Amino acid sequence: EEKSKGQIIDHLKQTVLPEEGIIPAYILGDEDVYNLEHEKVFLKTWVFVGHESEIPKKNDFITRELAGYSIIITRSGEDEINAFYNMCTHRGMKLCRADRGNKRTFQCPYHGFNFKNTGECIGVPLQKDIYGEDFDRSNMGLNQVRIESYKGLLFATWNEEAESLDDFLGEFKWYIDLLVGRAEMEVIGEPQRFIVNANWKVGSDNFVGDSYHTMVTHGSIAKLGMVPSATYSKQGYQIYTDNGHGLNLGLPNPVFAFPEELKEEFKSNLTEEQFEILSNMKNMIGNIFPNLSFLISHTEIKGQPISNTSVRMWRPIGVNKMEVTAWMLVEKNAPQEWKDRSRDAFILTFSPSGIFEQDDTEVFTDITLTASGKMPFQKNFKYNYTMGLHREPVDFVGPGVAYGDKFSEANQRNFYKYWLELMTE
Ligand code: FES
Ligand code: FE
Repeated sequence: EEKSKGQIIDHLKQTVLPEEGIIPAYILGDEDVYNLEHEKVFLKTWVFVGHESEIPKKNDFITRELAGYSIIITRSGEDEINAFYNMCTHRGMKLCRADRGNKRTFQCPYHGFNFKNTGECIGVPLQKDIYGEDFDRSNMGLNQVRIESYKGLLFATWNEEAESLDDFLGEFKWYIDLLVGRAEMEVIGEPQRFIVNANWKVGSDNFVGDSYHTMVTHGSIAKLGMVPSATYSKQGYQIYTDNGHGLNLGLPNPVFAFPEELKEEFKSNLTEEQFEILSNMKNMIGNIFPNLSFLISHTEIKGQPISNTSVRMWRPIGVNKMEVTAWMLVEKNAPQEWKDRSRDAFILTFSPSGIFEQDDTEVFTDITLTASGKMPFQKNFKYNYTMGLHREPVDFVGPGVAYGDKFSEANQRNFYKYWLELMTE
């Protein structure tokens, strides 16, 4: 039966109880929740759209999806990045159909209106002939979209009233610095894109706080000797900050798995405390709300320890379907040999053919399937998220609320708490 928006919101308020560790399964499989999410979450918040290094040169551009609508991101000057709704202002035709390129102007495939990569409408075919002398093009520019960058990570939003990206990321920036602020970073190659039959929140949930699954789901990696032991994932900290952001920091690690040559660059970009954490880091896994997960993972390739860094977006394209886009990042000034090994490590672990990725996506798909079930026991099924519910936070050098090991569900509770806040606003 049709439910009103008010009924959906009331039902959410009654059944989603993150602070008690109760999350109902239906929020991962319900069409109404999915549609409301589009309006309350994805049209409201900042969403990741790419990395600055993807458009390094003047007039480079990429097209990306922002909450279901295509946008063009252009570098129109040396240092000027703009974003526009990828829609011709004449009849609304999709203006640019390429994923990326280098262009100063864009011509609409329908009637040929021309737009500069700064948004102005600069040409209308046969303008004087058919529209006359006084046709005004000046109000036919492309619709600008808010885009802001933090340490090379580009986020955009449809929400004119949204707080600044800086405020939205808040204290979590301290940890984003470890990820992409430690050195000048660049994306290697095209981002990988693949479809998984899963609700996007399963991905965010898994990366924001589910270190618990690694010893079983990814147990084969320990058996292969690529990581030290089956419980390698427990040691460290679980930390969350405001707005649903959170991460898991694997500590300590006796080996420095970053390029030795870049120690000085790291030191100049980080505080002493941050450098100390980076140097002793085993791995770092987290999620920037809503759907940008990230990872610094350490493995051994050809007998040598190596780290690889990536960000991945769980872009919803249906209640039980998402497009995963994964960007692999490296330190721009690292030796080529190091970059190659880091890329090999990434492909071996996290990519459609990677060991971890294949393990995880099996799980994500099955969970979504049961959450979408129509039988009463499936509709009333509640997940237990009480792990660490009564544990006290510990002192940590970085900001946020920290717990003394990674096996906790504090971060998932924090993620769903903020999600619920937005959904019921
Ligand atoms: Fe673009 Fe007509 S729709 S020129
Ligand atoms: Fe996993």
